[in-house]
Amino acid sequence: MKRRDFLQAATAQATALTAVGLGGRAAAAHALPRSEPASDRFPDGFIWGAATAAYQVEGAWQADGKGESVWDRFAHTPGRVKNGDTGDVACDSYHRYPEDIALARHLNLRSFRFSIAWTRLQADGRGPLNPKGLDYYKRLTDAMLEAGLRPLPTLYHWDLPQALEDKGGWPNRDTADRLADYAGLVTAALGDRAHDWAIFNEPKTFTQCGYWQGNHAPGRTDPLAFLRATHTVNLAQGAAYRAIKAVRPNLKVGGVIDVGPMVPATSSAADRAAAARWDKICNQWYIVPALTGAYPTGVLTPDRQEALLGWRDGDAERLKADLDFVGMNYYSPWTVADAPEGNGVPGLNAKAEWATIKGVGAAKTDNGWDIYAPGFFDILTRMVRITGTRPIEITENGAAYNMVPDASGEIHDGPRIAYLRSHLHQLRRAIAAGVPVRAYHCWSLMDNFEWAEGYSQRFGLTYVDFAGDRKRTVKDSGRWYAAVAAQNQLV
Ligand code: FCB
Repeated sequence: MKRRDFLQAATAQATALTAVGLGGRAAAAHALPRSEPASDRFPDGFIWGAATAAYQVEGAWQADGKGESVWDRFAHTPGRVKNGDTGDVACDSYHRYPEDIALARHLNLRSFRFSIAWTRLQADGRGPLNPKGLDYYKRLTDAMLEAGLRPLPTLYHWDLPQALEDKGGWPNRDTADRLADYAGLVTAALGDRAHDWAIFNEPKTFTQCGYWQGNHAPGRTDPLAFLRATHTVNLAQGAAYRAIKAVRPNLKVGGVIDVGPMVPATSSAADRAAAARWDKICNQWYIVPALTGAYPTGVLTPDRQEALLGWRDGDAERLKADLDFVGMNYYSPWTVADAPEGNGVPGLNAKAEWATIKGVGAAKTDNGWDIYAPGFFDILTRMVRITGTRPIEITENGAAYNMVPDASGEIHDGPRIAYLRSHLHQLRRAIAAGVPVRAYHCWSLMDNFEWAEGYSQRFGLTYVDFAGDRKRTVKDSGRWYAAVAAQNQLV
């Protein structure tokens, strides 16, 4: 099954790429000046970086007292991941991280986004931190600092301790307290080294794919469990934010959401309304509650919303997290159609497809995701109406292209350069239009374990020889990106 190709495809043709507005309270905030950038030069001080995530690169899945995560369990279950691939070894970054940091340095980067594996620090999701796991992240962040790189850790990039899943996972409210405890302990221990922290990576993806569609860990297919999970995650975001600020008030704490414009499958009122609902449950569901203490309305059946989410008195305050910055990941737009027959989530009634813009003949990357660079500008200029003047970091953007070394050992991945160039041009336009973006991280520094696709999809600026010795080889795109970062402009 494709990564997000999980809801039945809309059959009608899209008539226009007019994404729905975010509306409501959000629209009040930010009036954007309309100006085109004079050049593709980025503002002085703009931060260039690359991103990775623990399960996708570290390997060493049982080293030094690490516990089992839901992704360990999922990947070890036959039939879940393409070709039976697992993250047991991955890029072996647990042992080879000095090379990875040297690589980032070599590419002229200033920011290294990575994630912390919860189960390295708390094998079963509770209790004191495992000193050996902590030592790894101390060495990792120290090496980044020595190389002049800003460490940008994400506390949770999808690898829930299996022990917590066994107690109900994200649909269980208690998991919010576990995440908050972990967040407080980790930032107390590492907050002298890293100043900027992200709590969650893409809560939309791991709740939808993990609990509703079942194509990601833990592989459940229960729409009501999914809704409960969304609420626990939002409670956890608020609780973790407060836990971190309590131990280290000077840290800057944000979250990473994945965003994309919503294209109605037709111009009918019904499809446009469905696209608006889908926008709320994807783009807005994990940011609006943090900033306002309430969920977007008009998504779930109103008189059932509280019961569906497991809402309790006091939750409005618990949801709040006055995030210091917002990370945004952009890959593709959605096409959304009305689904009066329902889709399991009461009231949502939408069919959405992530990888097809019907009728515009969009090109695709090697994993079938549509390339639509203007969507990047579009969604940033819409999201800023919600996030206001908070700094935004692009925490991921990139493309799967599966070129391998040629006879001389070079990897000619021109299409990735074209992808990055077109998206960076749109990002530059958004900045010129007033969107306060201060950083861009390419996904990814190197080829890695691409979740349910295993090693079949290569997103790296650097090639990793998974069949051999895991040697890293910079691709053409890596050299190009290094020049962009050095010159602070598109080349
Ligand atoms: C994002 C994930 C990241 C990576 C890219 C391709 O949704 O956050 O880990 O898999 O997609």
